[in-house]
Amino acid sequence: MTLWGGRFSGETDKVMRRFSDSIGFDRRLFGADIEGSMAYAAALQRAGILTSAEKNSLVEGLLAVRAEFEAGTFEVQASDEDIHTAVERRLGEMAGPVAGKLHTGRSRNDQVATDLRLYLLGEMALLKQAVSALQAAIVDKAGAHLDVIMPGYTHLQPAQPLLFSHWLLSAFWKLQRDQDRLDGVRERTSVLPLGAGALAGNPFGLDRQALAADLGFERIAENSVDAVADRDFVVEFLGWAALLQVHLSSLAEDLILWSSREFGFVELDEAYATGSSLMPQKKNPDSLELLRGKSGRMLGHLVGLLTVLKGLPSTYNKDLQEDKEAVFDALDTLAIELEVATGAIRTLQIHPGRMAAALDPSMLATDLADYLVRRGIPFRQAHHLAGAAVQRAEALGLCLSELDLAEYQAIHPAFEADVSDVFDFQRSVEMRDTSGGTAPAAVRAQIKEAKAILARQGEAAAANPS
Ligand code: ARG
Repeated sequence: MTLWGGRFSGETDKVMRRFSDSIGFDRRLFGADIEGSMAYAAALQRAGILTSAEKNSLVEGLLAVRAEFEAGTFEVQASDEDIHTAVERRLGEMAGPVAGKLHTGRSRNDQVATDLRLYLLGEMALLKQAVSALQAAIVDKAGAHLDVIMPGYTHLQPAQPLLFSHWLLSAFWKLQRDQDRLDGVRERTSVLPLGAGALAGNPFGLDRQALAADLGFERIAENSVDAVADRDFVVEFLGWAALLQVHLSSLAEDLILWSSREFGFVELDEAYATGSSLMPQKKNPDSLELLRGKSGRMLGHLVGLLTVLKGLPSTYNKDLQEDKEAVFDALDTLAIELEVATGAIRTLQIHPGRMAAALDPSMLATDLADYLVRRGIPFRQAHHLAGAAVQRAEALGLCLSELDLAEYQAIHPAFEADVSDVFDFQRSVEMRDTSGGTAPAAVRAQIKEAKAILARQGEAAAANPS
């Protein structure tokens, strides 16, 4: 029997049931659903709707139902539409008729919104830790290879020398912005819809503030019509996830390129690569390719939910049930992606010799212009003169460092014998020692700050276990 069978005399079509039931995917909300119901029972007691004996038997029954879910012995029945009806049905079997009082003043509309928020709050705490683990792998790797210089690229054209660690740490800061953004999403998710009823509010004088405090929500939703339909927190979460995904994907893309034979700057550990069924020589970066490829579904979830929400009439509509699979898939996808990315970075091999071999003196043309700037020549002119040196070297079939002093002085008399000092990649990176630059001293400072952030995040996680 369904929960709403009273006004119906006919059966729901079988295919229609399969189409509309969500128990096939929302079972994982059982913990949040039961937690929400225990708090709701306490609120009903405080409002004088339940005796304390009734409340206690409901709580005991709910704990027994939860134990079945946790033990994997919960049996879904054909009549269970969704996790809410399944829990209530089983509660009735275990606690008896008092179970019929639990739903007083509550609707699945405020219930499901509460469940999803509670569930997501728990998952966000886990995600923060997973992002921190990846950040820690990045910082450790960067700290272990501080002496490695590589070509830096813009437009994928050789640009200026960089410390490999400096490039790698760029991913740390993107992830740090993701951490900060998630705090904001969490704040706006921590708003209690329960007590909104179906759409009009609760007629039994429930103390919603106490209910919020019981469940760990920071505030209560101010408007019942909004509360049952508000999925902004889901959109924000999926938007957050999409941007994290983009960060993972672009990190993966650099590493895919650099692990190609043509670059050979890095090499994935065998644990994160696969072979070809046909070509024996292949070592394919599948882990990285999937970190890039998962972007399709992750960005899709965001656009998918926005499309569901666009043009919905106010309050609850069944369309909203479509929010869950997107959230669950985004969570599952990110969880495994973050773990794989952490392992791939931790085990990544670095080939400093290949990076050094790819450095070309033309990447020091900017340093050559800077040399002139230090001799009082305006940068625009210096840039032009360094360009002339590049052109002259090319015409003679030489590299920039092989042009002799006479050639340089023919371009401009400000060039002196010490121009040869410019052609030193180590010196080039060392010069960029303003904070945020690639000089080893600046990168060491960066690592120090990153480590302090990770330590704070670790302490916060220990203080607020999910
Ligand atoms: N399974 C439903 C969902 O996920 C629960 C809410 C159902 N509410 C309703 N009025 N039919 O959205």
